[in-house]
Amino acid sequence: MSELNPISLIAAKRDGRTLSGAELKGLIDAYTHGTVPDYQMSAFLMAAYLNGLSAAEAAALTDAMLASGTHIDLSGVPGTKVGKHSTGGVGDKVSPILVPLVASCGVPVAKLSGRGLGHTGGTLDKLEAIPGFRTDLSVEQYREQVTSLGGVISGQTGEVAPADKKLYGLRDVTATVESIPLIAASIMSKKLAEGNDALVLDVKCGRGAFMKTEADARCLAETLVTIAARHDTPGVAVLTNMDVPLGRAVGNWPEIREVIECLRGEHAESALMQVVYRLAGEMIALGGAAETPAEGIAAARAAIERGEALERFRCLVAAQGGEVSVLDAPDTRPHSAPVADVPVPAGAEGRVVDLDAYAIGEAAMRLGAGRQAKEESVDPVAGLSGLKKPGDAVSPGDVLARLHTGGAPNLTAVKERVQRAYSFADSVPPPAPAVYARHTQAGWTSL
Ligand code: URA
Repeated sequence: MSELNPISLIAAKRDGRTLSGAELKGLIDAYTHGTVPDYQMSAFLMAAYLNGLSAAEAAALTDAMLASGTHIDLSGVPGTKVGKHSTGGVGDKVSPILVPLVASCGVPVAKLSGRGLGHTGGTLDKLEAIPGFRTDLSVEQYREQVTSLGGVISGQTGEVAPADKKLYGLRDVTATVESIPLIAASIMSKKLAEGNDALVLDVKCGRGAFMKTEADARCLAETLVTIAARHDTPGVAVLTNMDVPLGRAVGNWPEIREVIECLRGEHAESALMQVVYRLAGEMIALGGAAETPAEGIAAARAAIERGEALERFRCLVAAQGGEVSVLDAPDTRPHSAPVADVPVPAGAEGRVVDLDAYAIGEAAMRLGAGRQAKEESVDPVAGLSGLKKPGDAVSPGDVLARLHTGGAPNLTAVKERVQRAYSFADSVPPPAPAVYARHTQAGWTSL
């Protein structure tokens, strides 16, 4: 390409023109190496946000961001490796259940995860609530663990998609996060670098998700699967409900406690486990250990019932330096400060008909479970547990949720926020489905 002129690329996007792959690659390379400054990239991002990117542009942007760093080579690891990504939500503790579960069914899973930001949680923060658990594995340790154990969950090293790291930080402060092609390129530049042979994508839809409407969630799912296919990576996207929090705990240690319960076979029919089983079924089928997703689901249920998934989680925690004894006796987890445990009482009689995931995510953040800016640390024990969910009956004085914190937030304000997140009625409509539909290159199937 002739010498890069960022001003003409910004103007082209501002005027709704389509950029070539070479132009986008030039721009991303120059930004990654610091020759295009943040102020020009910010203008470009806003133009892309407002005018959109074509499918070819989104794919080219992904390629450029992927090429900015290492592509982890797992070709020496036996088996079909299957990755998983969630677009993020409130109470989304699926990965720490799913990775050991799928691994215990014979399909290796290598996963790079992220941290929570704003009202959403992140898998790394959750796992680090287990004392000693390390998420800063080297590429060699990551490769070794997926070979020996069939499962690994680590943080994105600086070598993977550095362009995304820089761009995401800029999008966060320039109001350009909520763009389907920018989100798709960001996700896929990391997922394609993980080294897996196939991908399952949990695209969350609803109040607590990036994608608030089904139409947007479907569009993101299609974009992700198309980009994966261009990289010869079979992908399945599953559309799942994020109007209400997933599970009954939100926050890092509270969610790990729920993970342990799920792996022990408790909550088997919950919305959380419906999501886990659907994703597990797809992954087990993609990995070749089942003929169909339905057979994969049956294999996953059996692995939970036989305790094999819990045993694999125990091995994963031990391999990554975590204190395994707290999995057997969660009450023995040492805390560095006294932990408040405050009930939120119900004020009326009736049935829960709705619970606003966004409000609960915000309440967890105020308790110290999340961060407003990337550099902030989190309080591992902070969050909510025992959430009443749609369909549950309550009487005055019953506990809607318990608040936990090791800090000093305004607990009265958080309590009120949680109470306002609930809606009650005398009778309940049928529960909303946990899983809506699946999408592959062949099209959509309702579930
Ligand atoms: N998750 C990502 O990795 N990137 C985005 O842009 C949004 C969610």
